[in-house]
Amino acid sequence: MITNAQSGTNIHEIAAGIYRINTPVLLPDGLHFNFNQYLIDDEAPLLFHTGPRRMFPLVSEAVARILPLARLRWIAFGHVESDECGAMNEFLAVAPRAEVAHGAIGCMVSLDDLCDRPPRKLADGEVIDLGGRRVRHIDTPHVPHNWEARVLFEESTATLFCGDLLTHTGDGPALTDGDVVGPALEAEALFHATALAPATAGTIRRLADLAPRTLALMHGSSTQVRCGESLRALADAYELMTQPR
Ligand SMILES: [Fe+2]
Ligand SMILES: [Fe+2]
Repeated sequence: MITNAQSGTNIHEIAAGIYRINTPVLLPDGLHFNFNQYLIDDEAPLLFHTGPRRMFPLVSEAVARILPLARLRWIAFGHVESDECGAMNEFLAVAPRAEVAHGAIGCMVSLDDLCDRPPRKLADGEVIDLGGRRVRHIDTPHVPHNWEARVLFEESTATLFCGDLLTHTGDGPALTDGDVVGPALEAEALFHATALAPATAGTIRRLADLAPRTLALMHGSSTQVRCGESLRALADAYELMTQPR
């Protein structure tokens, strides 16, 4: 583990060649929270989440400890919010070969305009070959929130980069064997961040059907146990919440 003593930003390799960059933050009400970015180190390295624009110095420093920033080839993220992609143009500026890659809706609605270089539009299910690692783009509209929402599935390690799904608070470890569903439902009761809609549970069950072996979370501890089971339990809980009373 590498840690920046001032910010607490730390790096863990959670699966072969997949690094979790984590920065703990305190929310205004004193709640412990954290932001995770994931770097897939391959011939064509991919960064999933850039962190907020103001966190660029921390996240770029962490990336540079793993590989030269100029080698970054792909910038990807779950949806268009500042913690997911606030620093995308800063990364495009330091990585001349890098492209933002996102689904067609996200490009049409936001990224064609917001990105300093044109983004690469991906079709649902399209795979980018990183040179060994293969990341599959999966559209998940409104799951967990935003029309342009998507996840990435890395096929060789069966890692699901599930973004804000299963978000929880606290200062947990990089990987946990503990329950991730209960803490996610507690955070949901606090934040109401999920767009609870008729299609929500079905979309999450389709992600469980991928049989992921790692769930790489954006906020909280990632996990390598009971991945499909946890996604199905989350879907069941959301389904109950979306049923009319
Ligand atoms: Fe979000
Ligand atoms: Fe997020």
